[in-house]
This record gives sequence, structure tokens and C-alpha cells, in this order.
Amino acid sequence: MILQDSVLKLKNMISESRNIVFFGGAGVSTESGIKDFRSADGIYMMDYKFPPESVLSHTFFKKHTEEFFDFYRKYLCFPDAKPNMAHIKLAELENQGKLKAVITQNVDGLHQLAGSNTVYELHGSALRNYCTKCGKFYDFDFVYKSNGVPKCECGGIVKPDVVLYEEGLDNDTVENAVNAIANADMLIVAGTSLTVYPAAGFIRYFSGDKLVLINKDSTAMDEKFGLVIHGKIGEVLKETV
Ligand code: OAD
Repeated sequence: MILQDSVLKLKNMISESRNIVFFGGAGVSTESGIKDFRSADGIYMMDYKFPPESVLSHTFFKKHTEEFFDFYRKYLCFPDAKPNMAHIKLAELENQGKLKAVITQNVDGLHQLAGSNTVYELHGSALRNYCTKCGKFYDFDFVYKSNGVPKCECGGIVKPDVVLYEEGLDNDTVENAVNAIANADMLIVAGTSLTVYPAAGFIRYFSGDKLVLINKDSTAMDEKFGLVIHGKIGEVLKETV
């Protein structure tokens, strides 16, 4: 079977590598019951009163703050989600000293919950929230359990530390992610359509020879990878690690 061949190749590559970096997206969490964005059943494909992708923009947040939070609580907050095999196996690889960093576009915090320590969250985290006026920190539950627009005790709006369209990425996070990729001897990219920039462009900083893509569907960048496995990341890593 091709898949078994590929899994064997992946196993060999991992055993030869000492500085693996993982770069992932929403597809890493679908096996935890969290929808991705661009699959047929993804968040952006559903019928909603506003085009779902536009809701996750800074302009929408400013103009329709209450609608933003309705959408956000419903589709981007997952209080009961648990790490799946992908998160668990990546944490195991870090524990073995082989994997040096997880770079994620996800905001669900599941890598850390699985035990990964070096996690660069390019698009922020739903577990962190800040008052837009005084900067006071609020936890996940504060935003998730409040009604309407969450407000700080100072009266300011409490905004999730999640990067919306039209907002910039955190400089330190980008620098750490790019350095990790540049120093890696193996880069595993998984569960991402590689369509959202600047994140998708970061893989160009990889200069090693073990570049692997594990994704359910093909992406526009498949041909750039030395090894492409079309499958579910949790299942593939379970067989590999
Ligand atoms: P997408 O929804 O664009 O892509 C997810 C990819 O994961 C798809 O190509 C799926 O085929 C694949 N996939 C789904 N389940 C999988 C599984 N179990 N195993 C392997 N592959 C699987 O998600 P991202 O690329 O992460 O930004 O999207 C990037 C950004 O777009 C997100 O961070 C989000 C969104 O706008 C913000 O919210 C700021």
C-alpha cells in the first residue's frame, strides 16, 4: 500500500532527524471534533448571516462587535475539546528531544494541553484575552461565559488575543517560528491548506532536505514537498511515532 510505504519513509526520516519542527493548521484539531475552515464541512463553507470569513476581520470586530462575539463563542471556542493523537504524538516527540518546536495557526491551546512546551502560536490563543482599554488579562471562561460584548471592569471591551484579518502577527512569535524553521533538519507540515499568509510563506525558510506534508486534501503547494501523505494526521502519527 502506498500509504504504508509513505509511513515507513516518514518513520525513517524521523529516526534520522534531530531537529524536527512541526508546522500545523486547523486540520490538526479536526480529530478533536473542531471544524477546520476550508474543508467541505469547514466553518467558511457554512451558510451564515454574514460571510463567515469576513466575521474574523478587524473591521467586522469594530463594526459589529456583538455579532463577532456570537460567532466567536459558537465556532472558535471549544471548552471541552481534548488533544487527539496528533497533539499527543508531537508532545512525545518533543519529550524524546527530537522535536524542537510546534508552530501552529490554531488558537485552541491543544498542543500545550497535550504536553508540548515550545509552541509558537502564529494566530494567537483563545485562552488569552485582554481589555482593549487598560490591557487587563482575562481568561477563556470570562469571554466564553459572558453574554454579548465582554467588558472589563474599566468599561473597555475585552478582546481575544486572536489575530484577525487585517491585524499583524506578533513579532517575537514570528521571529521564533522563522528561526526554528531555518534551523530545522526536518519540517513536517500538516493539516493546513497553506493559503493564509504570512504564515504559509514561512516554510520557505526551511533549507533542510526532509520536507513532509501530511494533509487530508491536496494543497496548492504539494509539489514543493519531498514526501506527501494524504491522510489524517492523528492516524499517520499514531502509526509513525
Ligand atoms: P484550513 O481550513 O484552510 O485548512 C485545513 C486543512 O487541513 C485542509 O486542507 C484539510 O484538508 C486538512 N485537514 C482536515 N482535517 C485533517 C486531518 N485530520 N488530518 C490532516 N489534514 C486535515 O485551515 P488553516 O490552513 O489552518 O485564521 O487556515 C489558516 C487560517 O485561516 C486559520 O488560522 C484561520 C483561518 O482564517 C484565523 O482565524 C486568523
